[in-house]
Amino acid sequence: MTAADPHIAEFHNHIDGEARPARGGGLLDSVDPSTGRVWARVPDSGAADVDDAVAAARAAFPAWRSTPPARRADLLRAWSAAVLAHADDLAAIESRDNGRVLKETRGGDVPGGALNIRYNAELADKVTGDTVHLGGATVASTRYEPFGVVGVIIPWNAPLAMFFAKVSGALAAGNTVVVKPAEQACCSVLAACGLLAEAGLPPGAVNVVSGTGPVAGEALVDHPGVARLHFTGSTATGRRVTRHAAAGLKNVSLELGGKSPNIVFDDADLDAATAGVAGGIFTGGAGQACVAGSRVLIQEGVFEEFTRRLRAHAAALRVGDPRDPSTDMGPLAFAGQYDKVRAYLELGPREGAEILFGGRTGREVVGADPALAGGYWVEPTLMAATDNRLRVCQEEIFGPVAVALPFRTEDEAYAIANDTVYGLAGGAWTRSLDRAHRAVAAIDAGTVWINTYRRIHWAVPFGGRKHSGDRPSNGAEGLREWLTLKAAWIEVGAPPAPPRPTEGGAG
Ligand code: NAI
Ligand code: MG
Repeated sequence: MTAADPHIAEFHNHIDGEARPARGGGLLDSVDPSTGRVWARVPDSGAADVDDAVAAARAAFPAWRSTPPARRADLLRAWSAAVLAHADDLAAIESRDNGRVLKETRGGDVPGGALNIRYNAELADKVTGDTVHLGGATVASTRYEPFGVVGVIIPWNAPLAMFFAKVSGALAAGNTVVVKPAEQACCSVLAACGLLAEAGLPPGAVNVVSGTGPVAGEALVDHPGVARLHFTGSTATGRRVTRHAAAGLKNVSLELGGKSPNIVFDDADLDAATAGVAGGIFTGGAGQACVAGSRVLIQEGVFEEFTRRLRAHAAALRVGDPRDPSTDMGPLAFAGQYDKVRAYLELGPREGAEILFGGRTGREVVGADPALAGGYWVEPTLMAATDNRLRVCQEEIFGPVAVALPFRTEDEAYAIANDTVYGLAGGAWTRSLDRAHRAVAAIDAGTVWINTYRRIHWAVPFGGRKHSGDRPSNGAEGLREWLTLKAAWIEVGAPPAPPRPTEGGAG
């Protein structure tokens, strides 16, 4: 098959308001993970394409920053409306490209993304500073300003949701943006760029360049025209990006991986806990979620009962075509991730974990449908372990594979929960209000859910600790991620006062 094959879609970069191929003409295959076949091609961009995108963003910045915030808000609201109007198409592209089920993409990510854009639109004209009265004729004030061009690197598990959230925040704050989506699944984001002009956003305000991490991603991180970076993805790549950014003394905000504990106490509503634990690791993104509840800590008195219920719940899940609206769980997003998860399925038993249910992969999972035979299927799987130091208990697997760990006391549960380099999220299931508050305080993570799980909302700050990232996005504070603080000193009296060494400080 060639690039001109009419059955294979071709997507373009979005630079300065135009759809453009990579300058070098290179293309990368995008595979439909439910079939294992190439369905689209995307630009394999290089440093020259990133240069073009940064130049367009720099050119657009002065006018965008001086656009009145209320006008920026209007344009973002128009973008939100355009996304909603095209929700069916965008969700279908994403479900095809990364295997995320329509229930998630059409049911959550795209409409939620539109509401996230609108939320950030509403924040655009509410950025205020402080006034500091220093006595006499001197007034100091603070103002939050955009950085300039921000570089945003996003992963493949929920590209549209991340694109809408990050770009709308950066734009609301007055920045212009260059996005490098993941090479494994970026068709939905490239397709969504057509809506930017429809909404009236100026050319160059948002640019998207597809390509590999080491080439296009690093070119963006290293680019001297980029003032600030946001990275979502693996902890290993986050470390690499941070090292590169340090050379240019650029700040990176990081949203990284996790190995989140989901704790089932013996006083929990076991029906609710079963659905919540399954929703945290199996359904939706097939466990390919940064907040996946991948360690299920179960109090010993309900261990048998709870794992039995979870097995029955998992058996009833519909695994198959992600574009069928009734499907609960799709395939893994691409071959590399499929290989990684299968390797952990082999590793677990070798290091002493026992597979309690699941464990099958490939065509066995989806049965008779020949169209799906080549897809990257992994069954909902639960392993039992007694030692949290096993690699399957410590490393992010990023698939529908959870580890069940028994515990006796509440303190023991928190000790196991926090015995990880990660600190993204955690959950606890209990009917005790006292214990709920203790769990919130005890779990060392950026988000703790009680009697619910895997809830992310644009109005609630979200971020990690330890190796899971740093400052939170979302919520009113989330906008600060895209703003830099300036202090202004204004002497209102005449004649100007001489500098006063008694004011202290140095500089
Ligand atoms: P990754 O972190 O390497 O990829 C994320 C993004 O970073 C992609 O856009 C990629 O092209 C870009 N990138 C890669 N190398 C780069 C570099 N040197 N400079 C700049 N950008 C670069 O993740 P990958 O390799 O796709 O997945 C591996 C594992 O990472 C997964 O199995 C999972 O455990 C974890 N992961 C976690 C995510 C999360 O949200 N917590 C999201 C995606 C992956
Ligand atoms: Mg794909």
